Amino acid sequence: MKNICVITGGGSGMGLATAKVMGQDHYIIISGRTVEKLKKAIDELTELGIDAEAFACDVSDKKSVEKLAKHASKLGCIKSVIHAAGMSPNMADAEAIMKVNALGTIHVNDVFFQYMENGSCLIDVSSMSGYMIPEIIMPNKHYKLSRISHRQFMKKMMQRVNLLPKKHRTGVSYGISKNFVIWYAKTDAKKFAQKGIRIVSVSPGLFETPMGEMEKEISKDFIEKCAIKRYGKVEEIAYLFRYIADKKLSYLTGVDILCDGGCVASQLS
Ligand SMILES: NC(=O)c1ccc[n+]([C@@H]2O[C@H](COP(=O)([O-])OP(=O)(O)OC[C@H]3O[C@@H](n4cnc5c(N)ncnc54)[C@H](OP(=O)(O)O)[C@@H]3O)[C@@H](O)[C@H]2O)c1
Repeated sequence: MKNICVITGGGSGMGLATAKVMGQDHYIIISGRTVEKLKKAIDELTELGIDAEAFACDVSDKKSVEKLAKHASKLGCIKSVIHAAGMSPNMADAEAIMKVNALGTIHVNDVFFQYMENGSCLIDVSSMSGYMIPEIIMPNKHYKLSRISHRQFMKKMMQRVNLLPKKHRTGVSYGISKNFVIWYAKTDAKKFAQKGIRIVSVSPGLFETPMGEMEKEISKDFIEKCAIKRYGKVEEIAYLFRYIADKKLSYLTGVDILCDGGCVASQLS
């Protein structure tokens, strides 16, 4: 049986960097919506001698995630899932951002839970933005709805986002969706542990990726306020994912790990 590592959002940025690291001892399945991007990524991985394939998947569509998980489980034992797919404020409207980041995480966690086995690990990629939305705006008391009705959950989230002036909505939707990712991963830990699966979320700060490039206008002033005054390099987070997924870290679950060059910490002083 092959040891499989599934990487959503694996066609670019952190996901692709992680494929290069995890590919040293896993069979890699990268997924995303853009087939051309995935093909280019596979060429890059193949050139490095990494065994990898692409599987098109839209995480905001549960059926699409089911197809991905089913396919992966047929190829071998799913040892790790790195859920890096996401959309940032400049990429879509507020509702699409919430759908991809929040609903996408629900789909990935719920579906892969069925297919993962003892000793495996799922990592949900959040963002330091999840720490930065003022408490008063956070609709966290409604997060529980995500486990009852996705429609009701989305309605409550978007009601809160739409209270804000239009120009702030995509940013707030991103922050809320990423705060929710942290909550969902934490509150999944107990359920996952019953099957011997670990689940951890990681909140990156500002990283040099295609997404990071799109958000540069907002982030360039912000970086001056961080402890480490530069963008993170994708390798710096890819190795974190690798260490978290390693079975030697078998007591680590139900936590969020901030990897932000001390940005959030610097806001406290
Ligand atoms: N870069 C940063 O500064 C930063 C900071 C904090 C958090 N993050 C988070 O880190 C993760 C990785 O982002 P990145 O910086 O590496 O950016 P990226 O290169 O843009 O990667 C994001 C990937 O997600 C895929 N994706 C988007 N929507 C999707 C969907 N509905 N279904 C499946 N795949 C989808 C994209 O491919 P397709 O468009 O082809 O689907 C893309 O390859 C994201 O969750 C992001 O929110 C990034």
